[in-house]
Amino acid sequence: MTVLVSGGAGFIGGNFVLDWIAQSGERIVNVDKLTYAGNLDTLKSLRGDDRHVFAHGDIGDREFIESLLRTHQPRAIINFAAESHVDRSIHGPAAFIETNVVGTFNLLEAARAFWQELNDDEKSAFRFLHVSTDEVYGSLGATDAPFSENNRYEPNSPYSASKAASDHLVRAWHHTYGLPVLTTNCSNNYGPYHFPEKLIPLVILNALAGKPLPIYGDGQQIRDWLYVKDHCSAIRTVLANGRVGEVYNVGGWNEKPNLAVVHTICDTLDALKPRQGAGSYRDQITFVKDRPGHDRRYAIDARKIERDLGWKPVETFESGIEKTISWYLNNQDWVANVTSGAYRDWLSQQYEN
Ligand code: NAD
Ligand code: DAU
Repeated sequence: MTVLVSGGAGFIGGNFVLDWIAQSGERIVNVDKLTYAGNLDTLKSLRGDDRHVFAHGDIGDREFIESLLRTHQPRAIINFAAESHVDRSIHGPAAFIETNVVGTFNLLEAARAFWQELNDDEKSAFRFLHVSTDEVYGSLGATDAPFSENNRYEPNSPYSASKAASDHLVRAWHHTYGLPVLTTNCSNNYGPYHFPEKLIPLVILNALAGKPLPIYGDGQQIRDWLYVKDHCSAIRTVLANGRVGEVYNVGGWNEKPNLAVVHTICDTLDALKPRQGAGSYRDQITFVKDRPGHDRRYAIDARKIERDLGWKPVETFESGIEKTISWYLNNQDWVANVTSGAYRDWLSQQYEN
């Protein structure tokens, strides 16, 4: 048996591939375009392991995807591939439309053509799992209930609008063509192999490098943090037992204001790797101009996936953040490889002024 993932050289996809191989004997075909966010170093422990097949390519390339499906005959497709960074979507939305909308459309069409040729048993066992985000639901007020699967879609950034569009395509391919789809909408992830353009890895690495820790606006925006391994286990659970056509919200019940997250990182680093000279890493915190259209609060109501599928996160924020910080401290090779690449150009473009 084989599953095919897209975007498996990225942060969540990479963790998913590593966990999949560690936990099952099933082969995994990994198609990734290797944008700035794709990093094969994450998967270097799998070199020479024939359970992992890497295929360099674009989900928007229909012929390429169709030939992969014909060759490998997967029982499921899990779509992680996306442009994923909100700030980049503000500077240049075109790539988000190209990959998140047109790319997902192409993947759905290739999947549909492949699925239609399967025999009845294979057809009913096949799954297309689309990995999406809580950002499609927009922004919550301070006292609003967390997002449930029935919340209206109100995306506010080019990134979230492109993900919302892809979710609608996935839904339509089920209702119109019967493609057996599943969708997960997850909150903010953190953990190993996270590209340091996102808040948590950026703050860890900037702190260690003695650089400013940039906080957008007042730092009181709230995110609901989930350790990436818990997201991966939720996806495996939905793939195995989710009801076709259903949407599952995935979250950690860990709402935190950004400033509190940054304080926790600084305090943990103060304990694990005290700053040279005097003072705390907190001294490096710098308030900077806010993100345009910045969503104030996200929070996930994860009761459906717990009630229907028995999934719950294992990590608390405290245990997960400590594991994450220790991982960055112990994996300086991975960090050096990332920080010597395109990330540097992005950093200067984003923070120079
Ligand atoms: P990421 O940016 O770290 O990785 C994306 C991966 O997709 C990269 O390896 C990249 O090379 C690849 N890719 C990009 N365009 C491609 C294309 N056209 N064809 C093939 N591969 C392509 O992203 P991530 O943080 O790992 O997110 C993975 C998925 O999970 C995304 O769909 C994202 O919207 C969703 N998500 C992310 C979070 C989060 O907190 N990071 C939370 C909820 C949902
Ligand atoms: O909610 C799920 C989403 O979480 C995913 O769909 C996205 O792919 C993922 O990137 C993430 O989006 P965010 O915009 O919430 O993540 P980011 O790490 O960019 O920012 C987290 C919060 O921290 C947000 O309120 C903006 C703020 N921030 C971010 C950066 C990079 C700062 O204050 N300073 C920074 O330098």
